[in-house]
Amino acid sequence: MMQAKKVALLGLGTVGSGVLQILINNQAKIVQNAGCQLVPVKALVRNPAKHKEAARQIKLVTDFDEILHDPEIELVVEVMGGLHPAKEFISQLLQAKKSVITANKDLIASCGPELVKLAEENQVALRYEASVAGGIPILNALTHGFAGDEITQVAGIVNGTTNYILTQMSQQHMSFASALEQAQKLGFAEADPTNDVTGKDAAFKMVILSKFAFGTDIKVTDFHYEGIQKLQSFDVEQAAQLGYTIKLLGISRKIGAQLFVEVAPALVPANSQLAQVDNEYNAVAVQSEAAGTSLFYGPGAGSLPTANSVVSDLIAASRTQQPFNLYNCQLSLAAPSSVIDPYYVSMIVPVTTAPAIVSLLAQHQIKAADVQAVDDQAGHHLVIQTEPVAQQSLVNFKQAAEQVGAQVTTYRILAE
Ligand code: HSE
Repeated sequence: MMQAKKVALLGLGTVGSGVLQILINNQAKIVQNAGCQLVPVKALVRNPAKHKEAARQIKLVTDFDEILHDPEIELVVEVMGGLHPAKEFISQLLQAKKSVITANKDLIASCGPELVKLAEENQVALRYEASVAGGIPILNALTHGFAGDEITQVAGIVNGTTNYILTQMSQQHMSFASALEQAQKLGFAEADPTNDVTGKDAAFKMVILSKFAFGTDIKVTDFHYEGIQKLQSFDVEQAAQLGYTIKLLGISRKIGAQLFVEVAPALVPANSQLAQVDNEYNAVAVQSEAAGTSLFYGPGAGSLPTANSVVSDLIAASRTQQPFNLYNCQLSLAAPSSVIDPYYVSMIVPVTTAPAIVSLLAQHQIKAADVQAVDDQAGHHLVIQTEPVAQQSLVNFKQAAEQVGAQVTTYRILAE
């Protein structure tokens, strides 16, 4: 008789209900790939009355102990999100020798090494493909597909909500508030979308990507991240006139023996593949010494795409307890003086200080590849596209320019 492994779910929201649906609908294929049946038996929910439909397919429980102390449950999917009590639940499950699959980027980015150690000590699996870029199997691609190649950079769009908002604002002229509301309705945004719009969600994902690409453990407090709240339509339009599209980009780049990581709006050429990534779609461009540039594109959020990554992990965990990532290489963080890129610099300057700004650019070794002057109701704008320059020079210039009354916005320009 075919062996069956019992699966429990912690949470039955957007992703959890997708997982249940795939496990039930795709049983025949799952059996072949897992080598056993994966049977969803219990789901932990707060309010069973909200899940009447699912109650026909799975037993709803409100007490975590009913899952923790059920000896028949071998695999548990955590899709509740948030740090607590997810961390405590996962720790207890691993100690009870149950394998855990999670989509929780906040938790893996904050406590990943500790939980990975716990899984190894208890000889069970801990996998989290769905924590980065939803339905794109980017972590599996990095850990298996680039297992022997030297990666030099991973850069891309790793938050579906902000990409959806930027797309709707630029293509449908929707307001920020309406686009965010729509992203929430479609199930892309976090329950509290603050982390989406402030760039923190993308920063969590860059922490995880950095571990898989470079073997290095970092935290979100180790690098600069910002979201799209300060992005001005003036800059979106100017960037378009210069032939660029602004995207919220995560970058993790190896510079010598150091690592540079950042999440911020950045300009990509309008005809590049990253510029074509719209709505909730994500894309991660991997640069590596042997393979060159490889682009991974797909849905970055949403119920079934994210559930697909969870179910793939479930199938893998039913076969092996091997650590999800085996690569360790502790790089130090790069100094801003060694991070070199071209920049888009947008300034509102009092007309009388324009000559002072020009000499400040020269003082900080910033060479302009293009300069535009634009006057509108906000004032006199200078829009500069720079030659590649060290981030430190740009930071120093910005401080000096602000001291003489300029309002300065800078965005990295990333050629693919
Ligand atoms: N809120 C996240 C996003 C969900 O928009 O990308 C997927 O991690």
